[in-house]
Amino acid sequence: YSADEIAARVAELGKQITADYAGKDLVLVGVLKGSVIFLSDLMRGIDLNLKIDFMAVSSYKDETVSSGDVEILKDLTHSIRGKDVIVVEDIVDTGLTLFRLMEILGSRGANSLRIATLLDKPEPRIKKELKIDYCGFQIPNKFVVGYGLDAANRYRNLPFIGVVINPEEA
Ligand code: IMP
Repeated sequence: YSADEIAARVAELGKQITADYAGKDLVLVGVLKGSVIFLSDLMRGIDLNLKIDFMAVSSYKDETVSSGDVEILKDLTHSIRGKDVIVVEDIVDTGLTLFRLMEILGSRGANSLRIATLLDKPEPRIKKELKIDYCGFQIPNKFVVGYGLDAANRYRNLPFIGVVINPEEA
């Protein structure tokens, strides 16, 4: 996806969220680090008096696929009790990270809790019950980088999103 294609789609999502959250107490929760560029653009496309916060989690999915445990590396700065929360992700792959994160945030008394992801890989989804409310693009099961997404922490600054041909050598 080119920078222009991404900008157009993110602007559309911003308009949709603006309409859906009029009069609500919106908090965007960015999941570090991959979501930072998406969040930065998305929030400027939302014409509401919103707040942002961040979480960082590490998933153990490589070691324990079945448990899907996530460790909270950085928690929210402010309480989300009574707030209308949208968790902002870069990409949903298996969905395990977000599924556990939604369980954790779901116990904190938010008025509403939804998901916005820039990219969604529907094929390998394990947790089918994970509902994606706002999605930029559905992509095939390929490893992608750019616009915040990394391979071994690199390529996040690419202004476009591209497929890594050989992730081992990225
Ligand atoms: P899940 O728990 O399998 O859904 O993993 C989601 C996380 O894996 C994302 O937040 C990314 O950090 C990472 N990830 C999954 N697919 C890709 C990809 O194609 N490129 C870069 N990171 C990815």
